[in-house]
Amino acid sequence: MKELPKVTLTHLPTPVDEMPRLSAALGGPRLLVKRDDLTGLAFGGNKTRKLEYLVAEAQGHSARTLITAGAIQSNHCRQTAASARKAGMDCILVLSGEPPEMPEANTYLDVLLGAELVWTSLDERGEMLNQTYLEAEADGRSPFLIPYGGSSPVGAAAYAYAIREMLGQGVQPDWIVFATSSGGTQAGLAAGKRLFGYQGLVLGISVDEEAGKFGAMVTELAKDTTILLNNAINITKSEILVNDDYLGGGYAVMGEPEREAIHLFARHEGLLVDPVYTGRAAAGLIDLVRKGFFKKSDTVLFWHTGGQPALFAEKYRKTILTD
Ligand SMILES: Cc1ncc(COP(=O)(O)O)c(C=O)c1O
Repeated sequence: MKELPKVTLTHLPTPVDEMPRLSAALGGPRLLVKRDDLTGLAFGGNKTRKLEYLVAEAQGHSARTLITAGAIQSNHCRQTAASARKAGMDCILVLSGEPPEMPEANTYLDVLLGAELVWTSLDERGEMLNQTYLEAEADGRSPFLIPYGGSSPVGAAAYAYAIREMLGQGVQPDWIVFATSSGGTQAGLAAGKRLFGYQGLVLGISVDEEAGKFGAMVTELAKDTTILLNNAINITKSEILVNDDYLGGGYAVMGEPEREAIHLFARHEGLLVDPVYTGRAAAGLIDLVRKGFFKKSDTVLFWHTGGQPALFAEKYRKTILTD
C-alpha cells in the first residue's frame, strides 16, 4: 500500500462515541458516531482530512496559492482557507452567490482567515475558476487548483486511510452512514473498505444528486483511488450504495426532516449537525432506523463530516429555533 505524502492539519484519530440516548429514543440499533467534525482546524470537518494530502500535492508542485470554488456557505472553502494559512500559503475562493453585505457563518470565517473572495454565479463558476487560476499564474503566484470538494483520487485517498484508522480503533460497524455530495468521502470509504478488508457496508445519503449518475462517478473515483494507492481494485457500481430519498427541496434548502434531525441529535446527545449536509444525512439515518431498514442487532456508525458553522447563518437559525 502506497503512503501518499501529507502535511499534518488534523488531530487524528478522530474519536468514535456511542449514541445510546438517540438509539433509545428511536428504538433502534446500536448507534456510533465517528467525530470528523473534530478534525480540528478552524471548526474541522471532512475536507481537512482530504486537504492533508491535497496541500502536500500542492507543495510538491511548489505552489504558493491554493484556489478552489464552492457555494456561499461552503465548508470545503473554509477548510481550504484555513489549511492554506496553516501551510503558509495564500488562498483564493471562487464563491457562487450574491456577495453579502455582512459575511456570516462560513463566509465570515473565510474573510477572517484572509482568503481572497471572487464572487460569481453558479452557471459561470467553472469559467471564473479557470480565469482566476490563469490570472494568479500570470501574476507569479504559483497557484494550485484544489478540486471541488477536494474530490480527486488524492483527496479521496484520505478516506481510504480513514477506514484503516477506524479498524485500528477496534470499530467494525455493520453500516457506515454519512453525507455524500462531491463523492470523495464515499469513494475513499469504498476504496478503503476493499483495501483494508472492512466487512460492513458503506451507505452515502445523497445531499444533492440523484443516485444513478452520481454512483457511476463515485465508482470511477473509487477505482482511481485504488490505482493511485498502487493496489488497483475493480470496484463495481453495485458496491457504491447511494440513497437519494432525502434530497428534499434541493441543495442547502433545510426542510422539516433536517430540522428534526438537528433537534434530536442536539437534545439526545449534545451533538451538533448542520442544516445542509450532516443534518440531511442524519435525517436519512433517523428515517431508515424508524422504517426498520437496519437489524436490531446491527451496529450503525454515523460518520459525522462536520459543517456546523452553517448553523450560524441567519436563514437557518430562525427556522431551527421554532419548535
Ligand atoms: C459537512 C459536509 N459533509 C459532507 C460533505 C460531502 O463530502 P463529499 O464532498 O466528499 O461527498 C461535505 C462537502 O462539502 C460537507 O461540507
